[in-house]
Amino acid sequence: MATALIIKTRLLYAPRLHHHHHCYPLLFSTTSPKPPKSQSLKSKKMESGNEITEEAKKNVNQKKKKIFVAGATGSTGKRIVEQLLAKGFEVKAGVRDLDKAKTILSEHNPSLQFVTADVTKGSDKLVQAIGDDSEAVICATGFRPGWNLFAPWKVDNLGTVNLVEACRKLGVKRFILISSILVNGAAMGQILNPAYIFLNVFGLTLVAKLQAENYIRKSGINYTIVRPAGLKNEPPSGNLVMEPEDTLYEGIISRDVVAEVAVEALGLPESSYKVVEIVSRADAPKRTYEDLFGSIKQK
Ligand SMILES: NC(=O)c1ccc[n+]([C@@H]2O[C@H](COP(=O)([O-])OP(=O)(O)OC[C@H]3O[C@@H](n4cnc5c(N)ncnc54)[C@H](OP(=O)(O)O)[C@@H]3O)[C@@H](O)[C@H]2O)c1
Repeated sequence: MATALIIKTRLLYAPRLHHHHHCYPLLFSTTSPKPPKSQSLKSKKMESGNEITEEAKKNVNQKKKKIFVAGATGSTGKRIVEQLLAKGFEVKAGVRDLDKAKTILSEHNPSLQFVTADVTKGSDKLVQAIGDDSEAVICATGFRPGWNLFAPWKVDNLGTVNLVEACRKLGVKRFILISSILVNGAAMGQILNPAYIFLNVFGLTLVAKLQAENYIRKSGINYTIVRPAGLKNEPPSGNLVMEPEDTLYEGIISRDVVAEVAVEALGLPESSYKVVEIVSRADAPKRTYEDLFGSIKQK
């Protein structure tokens, strides 16, 4: 049932995309890997001093930014974790099942820590999971299709609200949420869009996400809400297009790119207090993340 649902959802998200694939050459959308600013400064200092002692290495490690990722075992979440680690962040992976997590993510990376975190269990438990050492939270959770019709509401609305509350209690100042295009489909005149109908019939998923977004936007926390089009596991094709809220209603994007957008947002002030919708298009120009985020207005 789950597989059928995912396939069906993907088709609904991308009703007219094949046409583009045949017409244009595919270009990959990547940016050159860039370490967090504070770290590149540190490593430059160490090089010029020319003495990289074990003690100095330890200090750099201690000062690495630690990011909490909720939904770290998910198809997008695990990519976010991998990309954060590759860029030199420390990661606290919030997962429901530790054993499962260790089969999905590397168990032996000293920069990766696993903590149990079911977002539906209330904000106090999440305060413990996030701890006082996480500087930002990235939320990549999404309900798992099953028999519980309340799951979307519990995970995609209440769960995200719990995470935001935990951040408020802890003083975590940065929150990045993976949401979805069409969350505000009704206001966009997309009430008859099959994807909007389908996802809302399935436990009001989009409405749940929209309510959670609104909660974050009122929380005072510096947020970036990333609303991807239909997700695919395959590597990126085409270039990344970033648009303001409530503008995209179809299309597809690789989860690799979604993860990259979330990780890049962490280091870019241009992404602060913004809602961005993203999709890949073969005919789009290649742009930097500064430019993409910079072109979206804060509301
Ligand atoms: N599918 C699409 O085309 C599409 C399009 C646009 C946006 N989105 C959204 O993008 C996000 C990522 O999607 P995805 O397909 O990559 O995700 P996914 O593979 O379905 O992963 C969902 C993650 O959420 C976790 N989760 C579920 N319930 C939880 C709970 N109660 N507490 C903590 N974690 C919980 C899962 O943990 P377990 O591994 O333990 O189950 C898993 O890590 C979702 O919000 C999704 O709605 C999807």
